[in-house]
Amino acid sequence: MPNILMTSVGSYLPERIITNTELSEWVDTSDEWIRQRTGIEQRHMVAEGEKTSDLAVNAAKMALSHVSMDVDDIDIIVVATTTPDDTFPSTATTVQRKLGAKQAFAFDVQAVCAGFVYALTVAESMLLAGKGQKALVIGAESFTKLLDWTDRGTCVLFGDGAGAVILEAAEGADDYGILSSALHSDGNFRDILYVDGGPSATGDVGHVRMEGQEVFRHAVEKLSSVMDEVLQMAGKAPSEIDWLVPHQANLRIINGMQRKLKLPEDRVIRTVQKHANTSAASIPLALSEAVHDGRITSGDLLALEAIGGGLAWGGSLVRYGRPS
Ligand code: UT7
Repeated sequence: MPNILMTSVGSYLPERIITNTELSEWVDTSDEWIRQRTGIEQRHMVAEGEKTSDLAVNAAKMALSHVSMDVDDIDIIVVATTTPDDTFPSTATTVQRKLGAKQAFAFDVQAVCAGFVYALTVAESMLLAGKGQKALVIGAESFTKLLDWTDRGTCVLFGDGAGAVILEAAEGADDYGILSSALHSDGNFRDILYVDGGPSATGDVGHVRMEGQEVFRHAVEKLSSVMDEVLQMAGKAPSEIDWLVPHQANLRIINGMQRKLKLPEDRVIRTVQKHANTSAASIPLALSEAVHDGRITSGDLLALEAIGGGLAWGGSLVRYGRPS
């Protein structure tokens, strides 16, 4: 069996930044409340006409620019998104067209905030099954399109952005790449986090609805248990984790996970302050920042975890880069 390496990462945030203070001009909220409860300081928002596929393509181009690979080498493109350009075709096929990746097959994965971990695991499984050698896995969202700006309990929490990684099947790369992963869902919790619209329900896209405290409670419990699961599967101890790269929804959840795993403060990547919750894009956005500022280097053991609407949640242990 080959190992499935994660060899590059890229990201993209739309130009427009909305600070908490700016937001509080039209939403009944305050910078102080948002910072204290979530850690969020600002979010990015797509421009008029800028689509999820545009964010995804920019992130993918950055990831591709850091490896010696031609776009025609990509066999599989998976885009994790809850905010596709169109109901169909998939955003992934639009990304394929914009990148000119003619040899690839492309499709979307929809698992909301857990989308990146789901897409990673789907792509890994396909590479292990011999469906290709190289995959581009992207998390991309224009999540602000789903917000009800009169609902202060949700609209202050989310933002737009994209992140992308490159996966490569490689022989003789023991203990590198995706070492373990686990996915879970429980549709009984639909009503604590959902969108009140959809093509077959209402014919429109709807808005995000959330019981924040309930989701918070499930997040800490379910993310801890999935982390235990992937550590056990890979035969690793929490102390072997070099970096926790969590879903960026709320600093309090991230800090709770750091304490559960007994990791030092500076071994956790936190970017939620800068871009709020970007759903499926948040893990690769955090990963990209830490790889490109030099904190994460080849050989580091990463713990990824995320939870969101469904409920759907999952985790992965990844040794980043390739053996030298
Ligand atoms: O990625 C998907 C996963 N989603 C999550 O992980 C989200 C998980 N949940 C959370 O992060 C938190 O529950 C929130 C940040 C959403 C809310 O924090 P909280 O500490 O649970 O606050 P709360 O909902 O209990 O609200 C406390 C108070 C309420 O006022 P009263 O009833 O105590 O007077 C709210 O009306 O804060 C009020 N409030 C606000 N005040 C100012 C709610 N939203 C706002 C706001 N600005 N934006």
